[in-house]
Amino acid sequence: MSGNELRIDHVAVVGCGVIGASWAAYFLARGLSVTATDPGENAEAELHRLVRSFWPALQPGLSNEASLDKLRFCTDIGDAVRDAQFIQENGPERLDVKHAIIAKIEAATSANTLIASSSSGLLVSQMQQGALHPERIVLGHPFNPPHLIPLVEVVGGEHTSDETVQRTMAFYHAIGKKPIHIRVEVKGHVANRLQAALWKEACYLVDQGVVSVADLDTAISQGPGLRWALLGPFMNLHFSGGVGGIEHLLEHLGPPIEDWWADLGHAPLTTETKKKISQGVRDELKEHDEAALIQKRDALLMALLDAKERAGKLP
Ligand SMILES: NC(=O)c1ccc[n+]([C@@H]2O[C@H](COP(=O)([O-])OP(=O)(O)OC[C@H]3O[C@@H](n4cnc5c(N)ncnc54)[C@H](O)[C@@H]3O)[C@@H](O)[C@H]2O)c1
Repeated sequence: MSGNELRIDHVAVVGCGVIGASWAAYFLARGLSVTATDPGENAEAELHRLVRSFWPALQPGLSNEASLDKLRFCTDIGDAVRDAQFIQENGPERLDVKHAIIAKIEAATSANTLIASSSSGLLVSQMQQGALHPERIVLGHPFNPPHLIPLVEVVGGEHTSDETVQRTMAFYHAIGKKPIHIRVEVKGHVANRLQAALWKEACYLVDQGVVSVADLDTAISQGPGLRWALLGPFMNLHFSGGVGGIEHLLEHLGPPIEDWWADLGHAPLTTETKKKISQGVRDELKEHDEAALIQKRDALLMALLDAKERAGKLP
């Protein structure tokens, strides 16, 4: 199914903070009309400011129909969602607020309007409790910033229909995102769980004095992190297996890897541990201007995404 067959050309963005504003910029860059809403003070001005600030980064992939004029802010949530075919919900990460937002959306939309929540931590099954049409509620979890990072995690809750999951996956595909379908709801979804597993060991190693914060960061950013940006952990394992591939790797290195798993640690985030980690980060930042570092990171990220696009299909 293409974006046209789905006839999604108008998206509503509910909640225009860090994530909502970034989503709005991305949808506009893909040529969609966006109606946005947020009850925050100065929300309209702040949304326009943020979208304009993201716009230069979006120039390389700009659709012919893309225009900042297709953004309209509505103070009333009903006005924002009424004519949209797809709603990206980005309100505060609180179940009671999500329920209140969904109730207002349902009061103003027909039953086949898709509602995708950006929630990082809440389960769809929790968010769809009490909904009139829970079958059209789904998770569309982006990675910050959504206008740059392609991944979106899609997962249905207990009452989400298969059609909703398929239409949501097709929509994100059609606008150039890289959605993955998570088949079972789990806390933190998938990508954040993977990051959490790494952070857990990273905090443990720093806490035990095995390595400094700066050296730990180098261990990833100048090591496996470079490959992880190109191919996933399983594909990298396959290539580490040489001609025997993943099968040889699992036979040959499987036992030592299992031995390392048994040795992985856990350092609770005590005041002392938090102090060690914060101090390490501050030390690492001493030679850098933070704002310039963020700009450099984003520029490199865009160059990498562009290079990956030009390299052709990757797994
Ligand atoms: N920040 C991240 O890195 C990140 C990444 C992925 C997903 N998320 C998820 O995205 C969602 C938004 O997070 P954020 O970081 O943008 O938070 P944020 O605090 O920056 O933005 C939340 C916005 O919601 C608005 N809001 C408050 N009540 C509302 C209501 N009743 N209706 C509509 N809007 C309302 C606030 O004014 C605010 O602008 C959360 O569910 C979060 O879990 C965040």
